[in-house]
Amino acid sequence: MKAAVLKAFGSPLVVETVPDPVLGTGEVIVDVAATKVLAYAGDVLSGQRRYLLEPPVIPGAGCIGRVREVGPDATALTPGDWVFCDPTVRSRDNAQAPDIILQGLTAGSERAKRLQEYFHDGSWAERTRVPTECVVPIGPLSDAEAAVSWCAFGNFVVAYGGFVAANLQAGETALVNGATGAFGGGAVAVALAMGAGAVIATGRNQQALDDLVRRFGKRVTPVRMAVDEERDRQAILEAAAAPIDCVLDLLPPLATPAQVRTGLLTVRPYGRVVLMGGVRQDVAVPYDWLMRNCITIHGQWMYRRDSIGRLIALVHAGLLSLDHHEATCFGLDDVNQAIKHAATSAGPFKMTVLRP
Ligand SMILES: NC(=O)c1ccc[n+]([C@@H]2O[C@H](COP(=O)([O-])OP(=O)(O)OC[C@H]3O[C@@H](n4cnc5c(N)ncnc54)[C@H](OP(=O)(O)O)[C@@H]3O)[C@@H](O)[C@H]2O)c1
Repeated sequence: MKAAVLKAFGSPLVVETVPDPVLGTGEVIVDVAATKVLAYAGDVLSGQRRYLLEPPVIPGAGCIGRVREVGPDATALTPGDWVFCDPTVRSRDNAQAPDIILQGLTAGSERAKRLQEYFHDGSWAERTRVPTECVVPIGPLSDAEAAVSWCAFGNFVVAYGGFVAANLQAGETALVNGATGAFGGGAVAVALAMGAGAVIATGRNQQALDDLVRRFGKRVTPVRMAVDEERDRQAILEAAAAPIDCVLDLLPPLATPAQVRTGLLTVRPYGRVVLMGGVRQDVAVPYDWLMRNCITIHGQWMYRRDSIGRLIALVHAGLLSLDHHEATCFGLDDVNQAIKHAATSAGPFKMTVLRP
């Protein structure tokens, strides 16, 4: 099969013929129809992000595709099914605290690299081998729907994982910190689909904030961030018509701990905060405030496996639209161009897609 291979960090990907993946027990071979190129893929493949990935490797985290072959233990999947392949692979020998890798992207820890040695390659290829439990049926699709609509599903399911962790209830007020980003924009849509009464959306880019209101209507309250902790927090609290029940932070590595804290400290007493962003510095949170207000702070990487099927059901029920994204598609031969395009055209509801 044809695949894009990273030979070493910092070198361009090489598109070449590699051996077809071989099916084992507990795995599925999927024909890749469409796979997203993250805006920061270039930073990962240059080595700048220091992700735990071992070249040579076929990168690519997850895909939309069709089942080609199933292992002997699959009871529901059949060849030809359209599926979402979840890159979140968990070790199977520790149910309480599994090691996690994002297949084709990174390992969560040094120990998880062992799992990554086996589920080594990702989806930037004609075919991919995925653990059976990571392959979720999505129902009949057209080829075009697979690329331009369902490829965006990954952006929404991440935020859904956060709001499930936050136990967001219908009618509640949610704050999305970093709402004008690729995942943040998805978070606004997901909170509304889950029945949030109001979503406070923060960002520095006024145009992108206005666009969120245009798309999603008056349950969205935009608040422009001046990147001044006290002022911004006050602006959020003044804009919110009701106490903020839960906060989802999706800020990127370039944001500061103060930007995280700006949103975090707006949550009401007994409120819930979920941290999902890329900030790597410590965020000082007042111990006394946390304790006296009975605040829950939850870190969340990706989502529970059962969340995928539930979010697919929300899409099929018409509660969450996957049609907001504008996709630019590239063939596998143009993978290096796709990576550059993803970096320069990043933004909410914009997506770079590889169609192998
Ligand atoms: N936990 C998980 O499972 C999970 C999964 C996927 C992604 N993530 C993480 O989510 C984070 C966001 O990813 P993304 O692709 O949505 O990022 P993105 O598109 O670059 O969005 C970043 C957001 O942060 C805002 N921002 C505030 N301060 C910023 C600063 N100093 N520099 C840049 N942007 C700033 C941006 O909007 P304004 O310019 O309007 O302020 C925008 O709203 C990443 O760190 C990623 O690693 C986590």
